Amino acid sequence: MAERRILLEHLDVPNAHTLDVWRAHGGYASLDSLFAKEPAAWVDEVKASGLCGRGGAGFPTGMKWSFLAKGTGKPTYLVVNCDESEPGTCHDRQLVSRLPHLLVEGIICTCWAIDAHHAFIYIRGEYAYGAERLEAAIAEANAAGLLGQTINGREFPLRITVHRGAGAYICGEETALLSSLEGDKGQPRQKPPFPAVAGLYAAPTIVNNVQTICSIPYIVKHGAAWFAGINLEPESKSPGPRIVSVSGHVQRPGVYEIENGTPFRELIYDICGGMLPGRDLKAVIPGGSSMPMLPKDVILNTTTSFESIRAAGSQPGSGAIIVMDDSTSIPHAIWRIAKFYAHESCGKCTPCREGNPWTVKILGRIIAGQGDPRDLAILDDIAETMEKNSFCPLGIAAAWALQGGLKHFRHEFEALCQG
Ligand SMILES: Cc1cc2nc3c(=O)[nH]c(=O)nc-3n(C[C@H](O)[C@H](O)[C@H](O)COP(=O)(O)O)c2cc1C
Ligand code: SF4
Repeated sequence: MAERRILLEHLDVPNAHTLDVWRAHGGYASLDSLFAKEPAAWVDEVKASGLCGRGGAGFPTGMKWSFLAKGTGKPTYLVVNCDESEPGTCHDRQLVSRLPHLLVEGIICTCWAIDAHHAFIYIRGEYAYGAERLEAAIAEANAAGLLGQTINGREFPLRITVHRGAGAYICGEETALLSSLEGDKGQPRQKPPFPAVAGLYAAPTIVNNVQTICSIPYIVKHGAAWFAGINLEPESKSPGPRIVSVSGHVQRPGVYEIENGTPFRELIYDICGGMLPGRDLKAVIPGGSSMPMLPKDVILNTTTSFESIRAAGSQPGSGAIIVMDDSTSIPHAIWRIAKFYAHESCGKCTPCREGNPWTVKILGRIIAGQGDPRDLAILDDIAETMEKNSFCPLGIAAAWALQGGLKHFRHEFEALCQG
């Protein structure tokens, strides 16, 4: 099996980031169909397409749009989440750096559908190159009459603001992102109210991931049925092309676009060239470090559909697929991941603020050969407390990462504790 490139079709075309080249390859053709239909019809079309958010939670996009509060007297905003800080994830970076006009086109389509006249792109500070490319693409689109007071001659004022974050993982969480965008400390807010009711500046706001928004022009051009048909598992409710970042111990790590339902076996062995010489597969994290890892026998009987990954006991998350071979010490890998969460915890709630540093200390002791068999029960307890009591999904995800390792590879932790 091979990749099926749709969003990434023109990724390798020289200068695809410029307006002329993007247009020469069919760019902005979606606008021909867009204004022929009323906004509400596009919300229904996106619902019918089955597109689920690519940012992590996998929420159905059209349904999210339909939750927008109406008649508030406030403007509606679109916020594109390009914080991309989940370890292992690096595909939004490709989209904004190499195909920035695709994102601009997706923003135009989305803003028409949700009646928003101002969109923000929140991009992580480290993606300076991507931010520059986006700013250049927005300037080109403005000059060409694709943004501004009218779009392609149609009266529809729209402007796009690029906002650079300062490098905090928590600012990818949608409410922390909104606080950061408003100039406050990037910490999560209580939900409800959800952003669709009271988001940016307390106005109705849609927050969507870069890849989610880049999928919209294809739904506008080809229709919901076409998009829903990109699906190797007809019963799956998460159809469409999906861009994933594969990292770790495979021959060809990289960014790939695959059809929903592609088996992990084919992704790892055919598309990514298999394991490194002389090595065997041990475990895979299928959705970024926040999601529980799955051992070889489970992952090789799982596909990339959201349903299949969930049935196997993990989550599709951000689409970062981290492959580990038999040279990997799982307790060491989990310790490394825990260090990340301890560093990135925003400190607002106790289970996450305290639980993560304690996890790091205990795991550090275990991998140094100074663990006590009772440590595993303490780790179980910390993970349960974080999972059940954290204020936002960061603390819950930190617990899942730990629980996945303890569930499938407990014997490795026990062996270390026994010296
Ligand atoms: C700690 C944390 C970090 C997140 N980071 C990102 C991110 O970098 N990019 C992203 O799109 N979503 C991220 N999310 C998910 C967002 O909160 C939100 O669900 C998403 O942007 C919605 O877009 P979608 O519906 O298109 O997936 C993160 C969530 C959490 C809890
Ligand atoms: S779970 Fe962690 S990141 Fe989320 S609010 Fe609590 S301390 Fe902050």
